Amino acid sequence: MNLLRHIAISLLLLLLHSMHATAQNKVTIPIETAQNALVLQTDQDKHLSIIYFGKKLAQAAEYDLVSTQNRQRDGNAGIYNSAYTPAGSWSISEPALQVTHADGNKSTDLIYVNHQTTREGDNVAVTSIQLKDPVYATEVTLFYKTYARENVVEQWSVIKSTEKGEITLNKYASANLYFPGKDFYLTHYNGTWAREMNPEEEQLTAGIRVLDSKLGTRANLFQPPSFQLSFDKPATETEGKVLLGTLAWSGNFRMDFEVDSYHNLRLIAGINNYASEYPLASGKDFKTPSFIYTFSENGKGEASRNLHNWARKYRILDGEGSRLTLLNNWEATYFDFNEEKLSGLFKDGKKLGVDLFLLDDGWFANKYPRNDDRAGLGDWQENIKKLPHGIGYLVKEAKNAGIKFGIWVEPEMVNPKSELYEKHPDWVIRQPQRPEHYMRNQLPLDLSNPEVQNFVFGILDKLFTGNSDIAYIKWDCNAITFNAHSAYLEKSKQKQSQLYVDYVKGLYKVLEKLRAKYPKVPMMLCSGGGGRVDYEALKYFTEFWPSDNTDPLERVFMQWEYSYFFPALAQSAHVTDWGKQPLKFRTDVAMMGKLGYDIVVSHLNEKDLQFARQSVATYNAIKEVVWHGDLYRLVDPKKNDFASLLFATKNRDRAIVFSYLVSNRNGAGSDIAVRLQGLDAGKKYKVKELNLYPDSKSPVKEDQVYSGDFLMTAGFNPVVNARRGSVILEVLEVK
Ligand code: GLA
Repeated sequence: MNLLRHIAISLLLLLLHSMHATAQNKVTIPIETAQNALVLQTDQDKHLSIIYFGKKLAQAAEYDLVSTQNRQRDGNAGIYNSAYTPAGSWSISEPALQVTHADGNKSTDLIYVNHQTTREGDNVAVTSIQLKDPVYATEVTLFYKTYARENVVEQWSVIKSTEKGEITLNKYASANLYFPGKDFYLTHYNGTWAREMNPEEEQLTAGIRVLDSKLGTRANLFQPPSFQLSFDKPATETEGKVLLGTLAWSGNFRMDFEVDSYHNLRLIAGINNYASEYPLASGKDFKTPSFIYTFSENGKGEASRNLHNWARKYRILDGEGSRLTLLNNWEATYFDFNEEKLSGLFKDGKKLGVDLFLLDDGWFANKYPRNDDRAGLGDWQENIKKLPHGIGYLVKEAKNAGIKFGIWVEPEMVNPKSELYEKHPDWVIRQPQRPEHYMRNQLPLDLSNPEVQNFVFGILDKLFTGNSDIAYIKWDCNAITFNAHSAYLEKSKQKQSQLYVDYVKGLYKVLEKLRAKYPKVPMMLCSGGGGRVDYEALKYFTEFWPSDNTDPLERVFMQWEYSYFFPALAQSAHVTDWGKQPLKFRTDVAMMGKLGYDIVVSHLNEKDLQFARQSVATYNAIKEVVWHGDLYRLVDPKKNDFASLLFATKNRDRAIVFSYLVSNRNGAGSDIAVRLQGLDAGKKYKVKELNLYPDSKSPVKEDQVYSGDFLMTAGFNPVVNARRGSVILEVLEVK
């Protein structure tokens, strides 16, 4: 008996000792920003899990205690919160990584090997964590790049194989996150041409909610890779826990939101693996795109300001620089123009006071002239009938008129009615045995093909080398990818399932080469409207075209939604003839973004012209605040008769408040004050109305001095109503 007791006690001691040893062997990896932390930890089997997400703890040592408070443990526990869920072994959850090994085996396990953190200056750090399969020579390195002050994390992974033969990546996510919690509310966006960015918020319930795109080129036509995720309850602008997330990838994406059996949320985001099994040769690696997110405990306003600060400083090309106002001829002329007409438009642009004239579609192709959208795409020679003296002449004419010159291209596409198509049918994405299927009468070129990459680069290179004064490019992309098939991949004995991925990689190669040679020229990312906008493309572009829908009423809503993810200086907003609103309203809406015009200036009556010229001048006076200031969305047009939003300088000495009536019901308007934000409670301010239409008077008393406290607590009424449909106010510190 004694002996048995002795053995039992010895065993118990041994067990306790080994438990202690394993506890000590646990590796805890906090990924911290100024306010938040994502904490990873290894378990006794060296599997890496996420043990904490949210507000950073004051003492990092206490992250180790987090799991001691967790009672969500049973026989199945510990599998959901994997930091990068492998498929086919101990986990039966939706995987981040699914591999077919060289021998055909489909199981993968990942165990922790080591990690390191390198600092890039005082604000940026990169933690990389190496994981490997204990059986197969497959490795994954997880990267977490933190931008401390902006509370932004950029996450990606690199998958490497040194197996004897080629392996296949069946699923290869960028990020795998785990959020312990109770209730989650997802806001995602749907849309189509001219109806982009319609938000829908839903409570996530058990199972997987997938946001994805399979459209290839113009991947975001129905859905962008950006979302808002509220924890516990729907967040507001100023309250609640919210994550803004977006995938930096200009192609098919997929995000799985899985509410697991503990009601916690698993998130797996990356390239869509639909029809995209990717081969990986021995010794090669595959780098996934970045998943970028920011988290705030203080609502969506703070979260989006964080993202804007990050984007301007670290991401968008020339994000801290300035932008050009412009006059575009698309809606003024469509395809119908010649040199004389354009020269007149240059003068109009000058009269308006904008920086640049942008020549849109229709300037090229001769055998099949580009006189409508059915022909010519691909043949990038000046149309000699419309432009007998070529682009160089136009650039000079514009210069003589005192305005810069920019030009539209759609280099990734081809009309079947074109010389390019006749010459290079093998450059076109199409199924050779099936009828072609078009969007806007065109097809994408196969950018997985290096020859096509050179061709696309050459279009831009030729424009620039021939005309070094070209000051702006609008890069369009108007068709999605049907009949995905590459003659090049077939000929070079590669896999068709590479096409969607290699297309995007090919596109980035072209953009990379272009930016190496022409680092500065501003470029607008356009895709028949908002069909393509993400933070990888914006490394190469200075701005994007949110939608072909320029009805200002619609734009109030659209620009509002885009503003959660992208700062105002990147959102091109043009005054056009869409919609029923007067010029004043149309202009005031465009002024909350990057201002441009797409109207026939000569059709403006005297007062409208006077107003338009004054607006450009006003915009020049406020653009610094709009482009580089902090955005506060004050009154939501989805829930109110009007919208109000405010941009404040970083030192809070000046703010610009935009308000727009969005209801035409009787008496609709701002009957109570709007509480401003972003000011300094202790400072004194005066409020002045800007951009009044000629001969109209403002009810705003310019001499009254208000404290920041008053403006932010009691509020200020912009007096928006049917007679004053849009109002711009300047709040200026009195020193
Ligand atoms: C797309 C763009 C428009 C215009 C046309 C030209 O639709 O979004 O702004 O450039 O192409 O064909």
